[in-house]
Amino acid sequence: MDTGTGPRPAGAVGYRELAGQLAVQYESVGFEEVHEQVLHLLPVAPVRVLDVGAGTGRDAAALASRGHSVLAVEPTVELRVHTGGGIAWLADSLPELSSVEGEFALIMLTAVWMHLDPSERRRAMARIASLLAPGGRVMMLLRHGPVPQGRRMFAVSGDETAVLAGEFGLAETHRGGRGDRHARAEVEWTHLVLDLKSA
Ligand SMILES: C[S@@+](CC[C@H](N)C(=O)[O-])C[C@H]1O[C@@H](n2cnc3c(N)ncnc32)[C@H](O)[C@@H]1O
Repeated sequence: MDTGTGPRPAGAVGYRELAGQLAVQYESVGFEEVHEQVLHLLPVAPVRVLDVGAGTGRDAAALASRGHSVLAVEPTVELRVHTGGGIAWLADSLPELSSVEGEFALIMLTAVWMHLDPSERRRAMARIASLLAPGGRVMMLLRHGPVPQGRRMFAVSGDETAVLAGEFGLAETHRGGRGDRHARAEVEWTHLVLDLKSA
């Protein structure tokens, strides 16, 4: 039963209290706008997608509307907005994702990696790699910038993440930087796309 009443990860601190306000912010930009640089790298044929740290389900809903079957994992259940067809919700968290089962052709990690400390990032990368179907792809959006008050974030980089991914059989396919869609001058983002290397 997905009640979301279990323990919350340290990285989710500060989200529940501001869920209403944050949901409005996350919904103020569209999936195509957030992922503009990497839209051409999305699978075309319907596949099973895992969206970790799914927030309101903005991206999950857009991917479901493209025909994909999406498992949206989000520890802050108060953020959920999109509950339509094609999306299954799960209150779970990195690094373990202990309730997630099966394999996924695409795993989305959008604005969530910075919530994990170095040890958690290592365990999370191992778990993410283990959940990929053969030929599977990971699409990450890494946040760089100051930590909002009351939140728990760590500095992450494209280089460090790509090296870590390589240790678990994932090769960098694409990297690109961009500014913030909410016009915060001090916040920047890195798109990182990683593909499971064939055995
Ligand atoms: C900045 S929000 C991004 C939400 C969504 N991906 C988006 O782009 O709008 C980060 C999300 O990660 C979730 N989160 C924090 N720590 C997490 C963890 N350890 N595992 C999974 N999700 C986590 C938070 O609850 C929050 O919804």
